[in-house]
Amino acid sequence: MKRLIDILDLSVQELDQLMDVACDIIAQPRKYSHACEGKQLAALFFEPSTRTRLSFESAMLALGGQVLSVSGAGGSSVSKGESIADTARTVSCYADIIAMRHPQEGAALVAADSVSIPVINAGDGGHCHPTQTLADLLTIRREMGRFDHLTVGLCGDLKYGRTVHSLIAALSRYEGVRFVLISPPELRLPDYVVESMQDAHIPYEETVSLEGALPKLDILYMTRIQRERFDDPALYEALKGSYVLDTEKMALAKPDMRVLHPLPRVNEISVQVDSDPRASYFRQMFNGKMMRMALILKMLSDSGEETPVNNRPVYRHLTCRNPKCISQTEQELQQAFYKVPGRREIYRCVYCEQQAE
Ligand code: NCD
Repeated sequence: MKRLIDILDLSVQELDQLMDVACDIIAQPRKYSHACEGKQLAALFFEPSTRTRLSFESAMLALGGQVLSVSGAGGSSVSKGESIADTARTVSCYADIIAMRHPQEGAALVAADSVSIPVINAGDGGHCHPTQTLADLLTIRREMGRFDHLTVGLCGDLKYGRTVHSLIAALSRYEGVRFVLISPPELRLPDYVVESMQDAHIPYEETVSLEGALPKLDILYMTRIQRERFDDPALYEALKGSYVLDTEKMALAKPDMRVLHPLPRVNEISVQVDSDPRASYFRQMFNGKMMRMALILKMLSDSGEETPVNNRPVYRHLTCRNPKCISQTEQELQQAFYKVPGRREIYRCVYCEQQAE
């Protein structure tokens, strides 16, 4: 496997295998402590990160490998105007695998298209975050024992919350999953995520009320309102306190509901909830390291065959106007679009998935 850009680059069967390996790593960590000896992971983080970057680094070290790190655009030639493609090509001379986080949507795809070593998307702007979904899935498997017939509430910033977009894509492949989308109207899911649920006939409802949704949920996935993604600071100020999960609200939930959160939290989960056994978010970040270990192992040991998931026809006659798309800034990158199957005349940018004009 040469790239993990979108969670759908992994089949359900591959996800199961990754989770099996992660569970085996948890049971017998020593068995894996030399598995990546002599290999190097480059962690290229052009956006702040604590858990994702350190868990990638710690995962590689626990596999006996080594780590090269860039943290913040100021720490690399990106600040001199170097393109993503040139940066990735450079790094591919020094490392065996790249994990990249970047504020622009589609950046990891551009990197993957530029090099022959494996590339992992560690978050591209407000678009997607497949390795957080790996952490989320292992947490659900270990705590709920299943993925089917779950009612999953997603609460907070559904517009910019890249972890939410990837989690919906992953869970939509299991039977009987329903979503309750809890957000202020300004932070509703992007159209392409809503369309993907509709096309897969996934039942969902939208609400602004966390209290109203709580009693029916098997999982509550809380998210942070993401200040850094807002163009209008006044709108952020108006929305930042929209949801706070506290012990009173937890009393409305099922006794076996689980609370997940990709973290960091700001104020959306009261610290009093931390001691509730249903609070799974600290276990979730441990699971993230285990899944990243399993993923690095898989990507460094697979034969290099690419899973043919995204080999759809590409159209060039349109324009992407999303200012956060990598196609706006990457030198000489040609914009490219795919047609949404079953929907007349809807084309989306291959980098950011926003609708083309
Ligand atoms: C998330 C992210 O970066 O998208 N955090 C993470 O990776 N654990 C969520 C967030 O920043 O709010």
